[in-house]
Amino acid sequence: MSMHLLITGHSGFKGSWLTLMLGAAGHKVSGYSLDPEPGSHFERAELPAHLSSDIRGDIRDFASLNSAMAAVRPDAVFHLAAQPLVRESYVAPRVTMETNVVGTMNVIDAARAVDSVRGMVVVTTDKVYRNVNQVAGYSEGDALGGHDPYSASKAMADILTQSWISSFPGIPISIARAGNVIGGGDACKDRLLPDLMAGFASGSVVPLRFPGAVRPWQHVLDCLRGYMMLMDRTLANSLPFVDWNFGPGQESFKTVSEVADLAASYWGSGASWSDVGGDHPHEAGLLALDASRARSELGWNDRLDFASAVKWTVDWYKDADFGKIPLDLTAAQISKFNSLGSA
Ligand SMILES: NC(=O)c1ccc[n+]([C@@H]2O[C@H](COP(=O)([O-])OP(=O)(O)OC[C@H]3O[C@@H](n4cnc5c(N)ncnc54)[C@H](O)[C@@H]3O)[C@@H](O)[C@H]2O)c1
Repeated sequence: MSMHLLITGHSGFKGSWLTLMLGAAGHKVSGYSLDPEPGSHFERAELPAHLSSDIRGDIRDFASLNSAMAAVRPDAVFHLAAQPLVRESYVAPRVTMETNVVGTMNVIDAARAVDSVRGMVVVTTDKVYRNVNQVAGYSEGDALGGHDPYSASKAMADILTQSWISSFPGIPISIARAGNVIGGGDACKDRLLPDLMAGFASGSVVPLRFPGAVRPWQHVLDCLRGYMMLMDRTLANSLPFVDWNFGPGQESFKTVSEVADLAASYWGSGASWSDVGGDHPHEAGLLALDASRARSELGWNDRLDFASAVKWTVDWYKDADFGKIPLDLTAAQISKFNSLGSA
């Protein structure tokens, strides 16, 4: 059934891919977020043409959010808007907290105030778990925590959402926790693939901070398919749990250096990286997720294995570098991804 969905953070990496994925599934999409970053996937893929309403506003501004929600009257809301970077959270801890914690409260309350909204998915992260360097992967019952300000802000947003769900009757709300996603067009500084792709394209040796850090790498399309499946079940009000991990299997728990080596081999032309060493703000050394709940209860699974996720990402950047139209690249990958499900 076709719906009208509002995405907060639609101008960001995940939000712009989600806009096009939902559009490909026949839905109408509106968005609320800050202006896109220069060179973002949103700009390169010319997303405004794919939106019913493209609203620029701050989720810390409750009045503006309320007006937008009342004007759009969506059927459901995906909340993705956030300050999503660990290192930036050391530079701007208050903005990170205000955006990620108070902003999340504002979005939930604004959505609950509009009678068209029937459900909501709140996106947090794998970094909400108290990091004890657990090899098996965190599952939903594990304790939340947060060393750096970003992780703490997302753990707070997660706990706030759980508190609102249990304290105030109203629309069904689910929480989605995913790990490191990769895909074409991510323009965020300080993320591995964007840094590698920019360096490879300019022919420079890419400096890496934590080549030994392990992360659960996943293609953005697999993650977003999880969010969409979760939304469907949230709207059907048929879920036994509120919190859901979306991460790849153990075979995709890889070090930063393994990702960099594979990306360099797909890029070719002498692409290379180096370990810069030195002191950097703390980031988790090992972060792994257990997504067996989503696999068994939602029937979700990854369609792209680790090598394919890296290859699809490198292909996108390389083809864009060679002058192909970014929207065509994204649309083709969405269509190929969707066809994998019917194979
Ligand atoms: N990309 C990843 O690997 C990853 C991993 C885990 C969780 N997440 C989560 O997924 C979500 C989306 O991340 P992304 O990778 O697309 O990040 P992104 O930086 O590309 O996008 C962030 C979006 O939030 C918006 N935003 C930021 N501050 C805002 C504010 N005050 N008011 C309104 N909008 C604001 C931005 O305009 C942008 O649209 C975030 O909640 C992030 O924490 C991302």
